[in-house]
Amino acid sequence: MTDPTPTTPRIVLHTGKGGVGKTTISAATAVAVAHRGRRTLLLSTDPAHSIGDVLGVPVGAEPTAVGTNLWAAQVDTRGRLEQGWSAIRDYLTGLLAARGMAEVQAEELTVLPGAEEIIALLEVHRWAVDGRFDAVLVDCAPSGETLRLLALPETIAFYADRLMGAPRRLLRTLAASLTGGALGGANGQVHDALGDLLDRLTAARTLLTDPARTDIRIVITAERVVIAEARRLLTALYLHGYPVGGVVVNRLLPDEVGGGFLAARREAEASAVQLVNESFAGLPTHHLTLAAREPVGLPALAALGEELYGADDPLGATPAGPGVEVVGDDGRYALRLPLPLVERSSVDLTRSGDELVVTVGTGRRRVALPSLLQRCRVTGARFDGDVLVIGFEPDPARWPEALLDALPDRAPAASPATETTATVGPLDDSMPAGVPR
Ligand SMILES: Nc1ncnc2c1ncn2[C@@H]1O[C@H](COP(=O)(O)OP(=O)(O)OP(=O)(O)O)[C@@H](O)[C@H]1O
Ligand SMILES: [Mg+2]
Repeated sequence: MTDPTPTTPRIVLHTGKGGVGKTTISAATAVAVAHRGRRTLLLSTDPAHSIGDVLGVPVGAEPTAVGTNLWAAQVDTRGRLEQGWSAIRDYLTGLLAARGMAEVQAEELTVLPGAEEIIALLEVHRWAVDGRFDAVLVDCAPSGETLRLLALPETIAFYADRLMGAPRRLLRTLAASLTGGALGGANGQVHDALGDLLDRLTAARTLLTDPARTDIRIVITAERVVIAEARRLLTALYLHGYPVGGVVVNRLLPDEVGGGFLAARREAEASAVQLVNESFAGLPTHHLTLAAREPVGLPALAALGEELYGADDPLGATPAGPGVEVVGDDGRYALRLPLPLVERSSVDLTRSGDELVVTVGTGRRRVALPSLLQRCRVTGARFDGDVLVIGFEPDPARWPEALLDALPDRAPAASPATETTATVGPLDDSMPAGVPR
């Protein structure tokens, strides 16, 4: 790992339903990337850590060389969290004792939600900017946890803005302990590492939403239940602005087997593959057949990589980003947010101050409005294919009068100056563009 050349490392995350083959495919892809001469790190953020099992060698929290150009590491979320907790416990115990209160047991305090995900996210970022690797292949926990991980920077920033008093101090303490900030002083003040933590999380999010650097791949099997979850996952990833680079269909029946039970199975598989093609049209799709033996160890993984990518570059082309886009320049604007495969009636839209809150089922994204749109009001929303289009027009209550006059065809002043929140959803295709509801 000497002489690191300055590169922009590529990050590929594999996610999907439990047991579909995320770890195996991350490892096979890492082997394929390393074979092409790139310094590759296979990193697991799944607390269930099985990359050591798949590679057939022990793997720790620091990168271990496991082959030519290939290293592996697993994020020690539990260990880091326990360290964090002991610092919090010591801090709180000291604080309460100083105020004459009984000692608090760590178990009595609720575990901060998201702490494990914070650590995992920071570790992905840490290795991505480390400089020693050209590619970081991330083996994620099953879909639900991955989403919590990816939605986290936004959530944290939101709460950090609003948290006051004790919870904020607690978060600061956690931040201090996680980021190595100094804890406590003679007067019991906690070093304010919260800002540092937020900066790091923002940097991680910037990295993971940059399609030039990050590529999230959804691993599935050709089964309807698995595909249904993958479809929801795709919508949710787009909702949060993450670039999806492809789909891997794993454990397909090999051509040479058939007959009897397998004939029925093969038929179901063919219709499931059809559903995959329709659902994820436009995304690169790789296929992998069911191996006769459990693929464990570098030679078996190399064979899988060969079947998956052949002569192609396993890192592939960089995906098209699902970024939020603002269009329009004649006094009416539209914010376009790609949301594929979404159930129209499950979408809700709320304007809250300078943010637009987009809710899809149980997923929620807070889109910070660009300054231009902060001075506008929402006029309506509709779907244009897979893209949610939200209409805006200048709001006299928010724009200086001189600027308003300069706009052609400006809309009549209608909205009350006090309006901060407006609910637009639920949406359906029938809602015309630009028409307020
Ligand atoms: N193409 C394949 N052929 C044969 N066996 C496979 C194939 N892909 C995965 N497996 C096996 O399926 C099992 C599950 O795979 P793996 O552990 O990679 O899934 P996962 O999605 O990471 O699971 P988890 O959600 O538990 O982390 C393992 O025993 C693995 O060896
Ligand atoms: Mg796994």
